[in-house]
Amino acid sequence: MRTETGQTFRLSDYRPTPYAIPETRLDFRLAPERTIVHARLTIERRPGTEPGTPLLLDGDELKLISLAINGIPAGNNSYRATPDLLEIRDVPSAERFTLDIVTEINPTTNRQLSGLYRSSDVYCTQCEAEGFRRITYYYDRPDVLSVYTVRLEADRLAAPILLSNGNPVEHGEVDSARHYAIWHDPHPKPSYLFALVAGSLGVVKDHFTTRSGRLVDLAIHVEHGKEGRALYAMDALKRSMAWDEKRFGREYDLDVFNIVAVSDFNMGAMENKGLNIFNDKYVLADPETATDTDYAGIEAVIAHEYFHNWTGNRITCRDWFQLCLKEGLTVYRDHEFSADQRSRPVKRIAEVKILKSQQFPEDAGPLAHPVRPREYREINNFYTATVYEKGSEVVRMIHTIIGPELFRKGMDLYFERHDGEAATIEDFIKVFADVSGKDFSQFALWYDQAGTPKLEADFAYDEKAQTYSITLKQSLALTPGQPHKKPMLIPIAFGLIGPDGKDMVPSAVTGGEVHDGVIYLQRESETFTFHGLAARPVPSLLRGFSAPVNLVASLSTSEQIFLALNDSDPVARWQALNMIFTQVLTEGARHLRLGKDMQIDDHVLEIAGRIAADTTLDPAFRALCLSLPSENDIAREIGENVDPDAILAARDRLMAAIAARYADDFAALYQSLTQQGPFSPDAQSAGRRSLRNILLDYLSRHAMSPDRAAHQFATANNMTDRFAALSVLVQRFGGSHEARNALATFEQRFGEDGLVMDKWFSVQAMQPGPEVLAAIKALTRHPAFSLDNPNRVRSLIGTFSANNPTGFNRVDGAAYEFLADTVLAIDPENPQLAARLLTAMRSWRSLENQRREKAKAALQRIAAMQKLSTDLRDIVERTLA
Ligand code: ARG
Ligand code: ZN
Repeated sequence: MRTETGQTFRLSDYRPTPYAIPETRLDFRLAPERTIVHARLTIERRPGTEPGTPLLLDGDELKLISLAINGIPAGNNSYRATPDLLEIRDVPSAERFTLDIVTEINPTTNRQLSGLYRSSDVYCTQCEAEGFRRITYYYDRPDVLSVYTVRLEADRLAAPILLSNGNPVEHGEVDSARHYAIWHDPHPKPSYLFALVAGSLGVVKDHFTTRSGRLVDLAIHVEHGKEGRALYAMDALKRSMAWDEKRFGREYDLDVFNIVAVSDFNMGAMENKGLNIFNDKYVLADPETATDTDYAGIEAVIAHEYFHNWTGNRITCRDWFQLCLKEGLTVYRDHEFSADQRSRPVKRIAEVKILKSQQFPEDAGPLAHPVRPREYREINNFYTATVYEKGSEVVRMIHTIIGPELFRKGMDLYFERHDGEAATIEDFIKVFADVSGKDFSQFALWYDQAGTPKLEADFAYDEKAQTYSITLKQSLALTPGQPHKKPMLIPIAFGLIGPDGKDMVPSAVTGGEVHDGVIYLQRESETFTFHGLAARPVPSLLRGFSAPVNLVASLSTSEQIFLALNDSDPVARWQALNMIFTQVLTEGARHLRLGKDMQIDDHVLEIAGRIAADTTLDPAFRALCLSLPSENDIAREIGENVDPDAILAARDRLMAAIAARYADDFAALYQSLTQQGPFSPDAQSAGRRSLRNILLDYLSRHAMSPDRAAHQFATANNMTDRFAALSVLVQRFGGSHEARNALATFEQRFGEDGLVMDKWFSVQAMQPGPEVLAAIKALTRHPAFSLDNPNRVRSLIGTFSANNPTGFNRVDGAAYEFLADTVLAIDPENPQLAARLLTAMRSWRSLENQRREKAKAALQRIAAMQKLSTDLRDIVERTLA
């Protein structure tokens, strides 16, 4: 475990390194416990560096075997080596020299899953952000770009496959037992993009010819026997390659592209140049084992990592403060890809839901940070929804502000101007300022100010003057380290809907900047007046969710219902509906908490029924409309003194009321959506399944019987329907004979497959109510469970603590203590995983008093430990601050 230094890194401290490393040659003698790494680095003094300036290289838990400078063994006094530092004191005065560094590492005992480690006997690497320094001493930072040549040597039987970045150069025998391969990557890259894989794996092969005629060999390597489950990923890869050419003019630039799926991985996947390494969750799928959500996730992550080849690899980040430069932009690109492959509005609504459920609470709590942070103690803790999802929203706003043509022009300029460089957010913003001639200085605040702006909207119609005024006011709550905030530029796509349901066209606008259907709010408060409107319009604001803000519009319920039924923008329709439900649910939870009854207006039920029945609408869209705000969404909306039990009760009541009102219609609709023909993962079919499965939930609540779900479970020919039925059984009828039967059947069939068992763990982790904790504890002793495997930990304990509010927030605090114990047990092995798990407690302050005190006690117990990783120390201290 990395020792705590308590050091804070600051953007303002950025300095280039005194030396460059134009060339890096690595030679790996792979062995399970003693791998020898020989690095030959060509070092070049940068212009302006005094000759003789000491050379300081990063390390982490390294053991130096030998060091030579210009081929001559270094004398003891000429350097200092510790596990995390190599300091060369006697630096040759020549402009160029070589270092030969030999280190010894142990891939088997490396359970942090950072650096070189083994996953099911396969050697693999994860170097982002700072894992390369666990392999050899290096300038392990993204602004040092080097051309790599890598030789790998391993046991031929244990590791028939030897992969690294770039193109294969040569391979052959070493002796009767061992073989080797040499790889060369012509594109200079930072160390975090280095990768190697060695092991025995099955492979799926294909090829792709780029627009300019380069033939690229594609391969996806998976566990033997799982090749069939990699075909969808391969298809997604080819579609991604074609799309990036068409949409962004970006071609692939090597002769091979390899993807390897491993089962022990801290994150989703990694974009190493020419050798992407994936969490197998984002590669493996077939109808029997993967849900539609899994398919969509695979498509998105395959695309994401592939798109990094240009946004991240060809142009990388100058320092880790600029992480959103590659992540926000690449998320934006994968969102656009999925939108083009599927239904654009449905995809957009799904993005908004994720943003609101993951990023908004981050922004509202103690872990809030700007899209581009200015300081960090542990960079691994900044791979967050803010950097990724809000970072993508910021790019989307640039697109909205300058339009598609100029946006593409700006991107072209970005690639042209910065190819081969390590760039900054300033560089990125400048290309759009240059192509559009616009001033982006106020816009840049989106990168610097944390928190979700609150956008309040008030309306006034003057019948005589035939004018309609919209007054908009923005405010931004203080966040850690940022007590003062400035007004930002907020692009608000909008429409004014007339009584006939069509957008009205005003004759003129006064009071501020409005063009092409977008209001540009620049000051704290502005009033925009629309002229020539013969009737009072209903305003539709934030169409397409044009800015990541919290909109509070003073609309009547009937206006909101009007929007939900008439808005030409499906995203805005969904938002209106969501707002209606949210109001009913927050009010309902408040009433129930006070022992009063919950009021549900008949119109609210009717609108759910009308949208469900509207066959002119995409089934996927109807499903999204029918899925009520989650318990966490409602809690976030309530904001303080949160009582999870009251929230669940309110949500259950609303669902029951809708179900009661439409039981017959929903039953008929459920029946009519029964799958015809064989399974297909395409968006249309998936949409029908999602509508059918949400209806199953409603119907089971109304019937108060598990029968329909049990029948669907027994007859399902795909995992989506099977898992949906299992969820209804376990979450609504937990403990019933039917639920227990289904769990047993599932376990019997999939017990050997960890990835599929993740679903079995998470469905049980979601069972509401305080009693579930005992079951969770018992499941940690299940043979398929392991604290060593991040996917297992996340599916059971992560799901429980983040997505089961009534189970996790037991009044007696026992679940907080359980999470604290788990986090402390994992921390010495895998700090990244431990730290990530604890972020489930970030909203503890908004709980009601009793729970809040218990949560605080659990957090304080962690904070009081003598020995914590930097990762966990950082999270627990910021959470408590
Ligand atoms: N760059 C990767 C991606 O977004 C994420 C890897 C982060 N890994 C880590 N250990 N911090 O695709
Ligand atoms: Zn990424």
